[in-house]
Amino acid sequence: MNSVFPKGFYWGASAASYQVEGGIENTDWAKAAREGRVPACGRACDHYHLYEGDFDIAQSLGHNAHRLSVEWARIEPKEGVFDHEAIAHYRKVLAAVRARGLTPMITVWHFTLPLWFSERGGFECNDAPQIFARYAGVVARELGDLCKHFSTMNEPIVYASNGWLRGSWPPFKRFTLTNFVSITNSNRKHEARADTGIHGLFLFLRVRRHLAQAHNMAYIAMKKERSALDIGLVKHVIFFEGNGNPWNKLKAWIANYQWTHHFMQVTYRYCDSIGLNYYFHKKFGDTATYAKTDMDWDIYPEGIYGAIKMLSRYKRPIYVTEAGVADANDAFRADYIQRQIDGTRRALREGIDVRSHMYWSLLDNYEWALGFEKRFGLVAINYETLERTIRPSAYVYTTIIKKEQGLIE
Ligand code: BGC
Repeated sequence: MNSVFPKGFYWGASAASYQVEGGIENTDWAKAAREGRVPACGRACDHYHLYEGDFDIAQSLGHNAHRLSVEWARIEPKEGVFDHEAIAHYRKVLAAVRARGLTPMITVWHFTLPLWFSERGGFECNDAPQIFARYAGVVARELGDLCKHFSTMNEPIVYASNGWLRGSWPPFKRFTLTNFVSITNSNRKHEARADTGIHGLFLFLRVRRHLAQAHNMAYIAMKKERSALDIGLVKHVIFFEGNGNPWNKLKAWIANYQWTHHFMQVTYRYCDSIGLNYYFHKKFGDTATYAKTDMDWDIYPEGIYGAIKMLSRYKRPIYVTEAGVADANDAFRADYIQRQIDGTRRALREGIDVRSHMYWSLLDNYEWALGFEKRFGLVAINYETLERTIRPSAYVYTTIIKKEQGLIE
C-alpha cells in the first residue's frame, strides 16, 4: 500500500506527568486536593516507578514515539533551586523511551504548578514569564541531548479558562458571566465554590498575556541552550464552524479567533512546529445530534481535519500531540481512532505538513477535576492493583499503524 503518511511519521500516545506518575505533593493541584477542592491524585498509575513496563507496552503496540511531560515541581521544588535527582530520573525515563525505539517528545509544563510558584501568584505575576523561561532553559540544557522535540506548554487557553473564567481548576477564580464558555474537564461542584466576580475576566486576560510571553521567552531560553531543538507549544483547538447562516459564521469566526488565533498570532513566530490537541468541534446552527463520549462530548473525530487546517495557516509543521476519547467500555474507541486518522490523511493529501498522531492517552489516568473515573487509555488501569490491561482498540490502532507503515497489507 502506498501510504500518504510520510516515512518517519510518529505514531504513538501521550501522557502528562501529574496524571500518571503519582507521588507529587508539592503542586497547586495537590494542595487543592488536600483542601477537598479537587479529587486526590495520590499514586495515580505509579508510572514514576513502572515506566519501563509501560514503555514495553507502547513498544509492543508498534508505537514509534511517546509524548510525556516533566514535572516542574520535581525539577524546581524551590524557587531557583533545581533538583539533580529529579533531572536524573527524567534522564532515565528518556533513555528507557529511546531504548525501545520510541522517539520522545517532551512537554515542559502540563498544567500543574510548583507550590512556591502558585503561592507567589503563578502566571498572574509580571515576572512569571522570566521564571518560566529560566525553568524551560534548564530543561533544555539537562534533557536536550536525549530529546529533540519539545513543547513549552500544554493548552494555555484551556488552562487559563478553567482557572480564571470557569473557576473549576486552581486557582478557582470565576468570571460571573462565564456559563456560556463550556470548556474541558469542568466540574460544577468545584465551580460553585469558586471566587466569583468581574475580576476573573481581567485576570484571565492578564494570565493569557503572560502565558504568551512565557512561551516566547522560554523558546528563546531553550534555543540559547540548544539551538538544534525543535520547539513549539501545544494548542488545544476547538474547530468552530457555522452552518450557512452568516450570523452563525460570524460567531464561529469570533470563537476561533478567541480560542485559537489570538494566542497563535502572538506566539507562532517562536514556534518551529505546533502541537495540536483535538477533542471537539462546535457547529453553530447545527441541528444534527451526536453520540457522546464518557465526557459528554460530541463524537466528531473527523473534525480534526478542520483543526489541522486552522493551524496550517501558521506555516509550521504540525504534530498531533493529543487526540483521544473517554470510553470506559471501549465500545467506540477503535472507530474513533480510525476516523481521526482518516481526517489527518485528508489534510496530508492536501499537502499539509502533519508529522505525528499521538493518541491521548497511553494509560487511563487522573482526569483533573473529574478524578479517575474517565477512561481515556489504550491501556486500562486497575487503580487497586496497578494491573495494566491492553484494551482491544489498542490493537486496532496497532493494525492501522502497521498498515500505514507498509508492514502489513
Ligand atoms: C489535556 C489532558 C486531558 C485531556 C482529556 C487535554 O485537554 O491536555 O491533560 O487529560 O485533554 O481531557
